[in-house]
Amino acid sequence: MLAACMLATVSANAQGIRSGEIWPDEDGNHINAHGGGVMKYGDTYYWFGEHKAEHTSSALVGVTCYASKDLRHWRNCGVALSVTDERGHDIERGCVLERPKVIYNKVTGKFCMWFHLELKGQGYNAARYGVAVADKPEGPYKFLYSQRANAGTWPVEFDKQAMAVVDTLNEANFKEWWTPAWRKAVGEGLIVKRDFGTSQMSRDMTLFVDDDGKAYHIFSSEENLTLHIAELTGDYLHHTGRYTRLAPAGHNEAPAIFKHEGTYWMITSGCTGWDPNEARMFSAPNIWGPWKQHPNPCRGPKAEITFGGQSTFVLNVDGNDSQLSTLNSQLIFMADIWRPRHPIDARYIWLPIEFEDGKPVIRWRDEW
Ligand code: GAL
Repeated sequence: MLAACMLATVSANAQGIRSGEIWPDEDGNHINAHGGGVMKYGDTYYWFGEHKAEHTSSALVGVTCYASKDLRHWRNCGVALSVTDERGHDIERGCVLERPKVIYNKVTGKFCMWFHLELKGQGYNAARYGVAVADKPEGPYKFLYSQRANAGTWPVEFDKQAMAVVDTLNEANFKEWWTPAWRKAVGEGLIVKRDFGTSQMSRDMTLFVDDDGKAYHIFSSEENLTLHIAELTGDYLHHTGRYTRLAPAGHNEAPAIFKHEGTYWMITSGCTGWDPNEARMFSAPNIWGPWKQHPNPCRGPKAEITFGGQSTFVLNVDGNDSQLSTLNSQLIFMADIWRPRHPIDARYIWLPIEFEDGKPVIRWRDEW
């Protein structure tokens, strides 16, 4: 399958991108790469995502990979990371393996995949990230390990003053969740403190490589109440232990990040499971913050529920890529329209990000 990953040439009357529709690959099958992300290597784009089955959202296959030179026509490269039949293995068939992302490490020459992992038969309780590595973009990826994040380290912004507050926080005082006092305590670090010794929860996630080559893992932590941005080691295979919190107690998931003219932008969703909700947006002058919130960037029909989808990635297209000049956009917002009763039929939203008054705007288009 991998050897057969040749790319088709672009036809002159190429069909545009149609969000929400069936998106056939070169074999005519609806692309099966959900909660995905795209990585460019050489002159080729690689789309990695969750393989979804007919009747379950659990991972029966693993992470799939598709390749394209024009972002419209995709060749199925097969399974990049396969689940296993070994009983008790972290990525045993039937686990939950979501939101895989791949980044290339220029120093080691390795392709590094991170994903959200829930152990088989444990619902969403494990809250781990998993890491796998490959020598070729399309894989095969070798599973390395899975765990929770950053045991025994506090966020970088927890200075003496913040730690004095953390010292006063006591879980036993908050039997009832969702009260204003509880929310304030979560913001101050109640759950970071709870998980300090055992390590921080890690669910919906993405990866980001900055211009200086440093990479970051961004994930929903603290019972999905707070996003963490954690710095990766030089080989992109571990956390360094340095991390910051974004929107403490803000209840965000589905993070998608991009950098535009020196500003970091993050688009997220609220936490309503497979049901769509209103997108949120944040920006910061520095990956370490301070992050500030902006209004929903979506415009057009169903803009108040992210057009029926949930963010997964923002693709920064190489501006010099002449094949893509007709797309008229450097940044593409990617989201998933989930179909929990028929997961394989989930749809994709790909829309250009425009800027108005210096802020990103995502306008619905039937085709572009
Ligand atoms: C969503 C999340 C998905 C998946 C789902 C399960 O909110 O973004 O990746 O975990 O919940 O209910």
